[in-house]
Amino acid sequence: MNLQGHEAAPGPARRRPTAARAYLLNQDTVDDYRRTVSAGIDRVAGRVAGADRPFTGITPDRLAPEIDRIDLDRPLHDPAAALDELDSVYLRDAVYFHHPRYLAHLNCPVVIPALLGEAVLSAVNSSMDTWDQSAGGTLIERRLIDWTTDRIGLGPTADGVFTSGGTQSNIQAMLMAREEACASQPVPRAELLPRLRVLTSAAGHFSVQKSAKLLGLARDAVVTVETGPDRRMRPEALAREIDRCHRAGLVVMAVVATAGTTDFGTIDPLPAIAEQCRAAGVWLHVDAAYGCGLLVSTTRRHLLNGIEQADSVTVDYHKSFFQPVSSSAVLVRDRRVLRHATYHADYLNPARMVEQRIPNQVDKSLQTTRRFDALKLWLTLRIMGADALGALFDEVVDRAADTYTLLSTDPRFEVVTRSQLSTVVFRYLPADRHLADDANLHAREALAASGAAVVAGTKVDGRHFLKFTLLNPETTIDDIAHVLDLVAAHASRYVRARTAAEVSVPAPAEVPSVDVAAEPCHVG
Ligand SMILES: Cc1ncc(COP(=O)(O)O)c(C=O)c1O
Repeated sequence: MNLQGHEAAPGPARRRPTAARAYLLNQDTVDDYRRTVSAGIDRVAGRVAGADRPFTGITPDRLAPEIDRIDLDRPLHDPAAALDELDSVYLRDAVYFHHPRYLAHLNCPVVIPALLGEAVLSAVNSSMDTWDQSAGGTLIERRLIDWTTDRIGLGPTADGVFTSGGTQSNIQAMLMAREEACASQPVPRAELLPRLRVLTSAAGHFSVQKSAKLLGLARDAVVTVETGPDRRMRPEALAREIDRCHRAGLVVMAVVATAGTTDFGTIDPLPAIAEQCRAAGVWLHVDAAYGCGLLVSTTRRHLLNGIEQADSVTVDYHKSFFQPVSSSAVLVRDRRVLRHATYHADYLNPARMVEQRIPNQVDKSLQTTRRFDALKLWLTLRIMGADALGALFDEVVDRAADTYTLLSTDPRFEVVTRSQLSTVVFRYLPADRHLADDANLHAREALAASGAAVVAGTKVDGRHFLKFTLLNPETTIDDIAHVLDLVAAHASRYVRARTAAEVSVPAPAEVPSVDVAAEPCHVG
């Protein structure tokens, strides 16, 4: 019988298993699953073992045609052949973060227990929206959220949810702050939205601006609070801005303090900022996407003091907890504010589920279908433990301090500020300072083209600088010294070429790359 009470018409005979169905993971195909996935693991292991540099220096121009010529409508029907092909368009030229001379962005080498989690979670393929799609997964994620809020010290009413990354965590935090601000003001929303302001430092992450845009705030909604020479928000400047906003009839919706600025690895003075937020009745969000690794440090946890006073916190386990992308969470002091992400759908999370006390995570999340990323952290904590993670992070913070010392005693370079975490921003200083920007840009490009090392770049007060982000405990101070020699060799070669050219001024990319092996290299 069908739903209308009619006898079902006889359907086509049950189809025999086809070749396509052989690709589905089920009880008949587990051997194939083992073989296929193991073959993939072997390829990656081979590349990881064989990587003698972090990058081959491949350019988009060379790689794009190889990818374009692959006919996606003509499958290979052979995992080994597909892996061969993948090797030539991806694995061979991928950027390998496990290599000690990958020093660029906030990408970490990943711990093996988390990779075990990754393999399990994608094969079981739980979805974290509702209990009936995840069962134990929901409870495991909840335990990890509680574990994190305990480490932060957010108190008994705290809660949170895993997200895809720091950007999403920040967006959700700003959504909650906006809704709380709207609820607290006796003004129609349309009138209030253009008057809402978010205060953050110049070193805050650009996802704060993105959030403001997505949330329909004014173009000038994000107000930059002055930093000191240490690149940390100045509390007195914050007080000034809050006051200025109030006097202008604006409503400060949130202050975003950064615990680990992306460029400088500095931590805003959280206790002083928290005090001001409390006094002004303003939501405090702490973006600890980077600095959250200190939550498991046995020697530096105190650097996060004050974070426990936040209304919301962003943590990125995929930065300083050595987890594979993606793994992040947004945490809140008062679990009730998570309702600002709650909608009920009859098919998924009807309100009666709450009455029946069936746990679900979709009520707290911006996402619906969502990966069980929490499993990676779970297995990491169960296999290696929090202290071991903290020890790894402590090592890279120590290395950054040594790098700062090395650079500040090396007359070839200028270094910006002492990081509290693991970044170091510096630049090569040619005798002719006018060439500094171009020389540093060139050095970075030439280094990446050679693949010998990958470093990042950023601007400080309008000038081009280079940046090390150290997240690999395998990176030694000798690696750093060697990379500095390479930078100096590329930059000085550029300066010589420019000076010799005199009349025509080539763009950085036009200068032939340096055979650094031929350059005499000295540190210090
Ligand atoms: C301080 C800070 N916040 C937020 C983010 C965004 O995190 P994600 O890249 O995971 O979206 C970053 C990324 O580098 C960051 O450094």
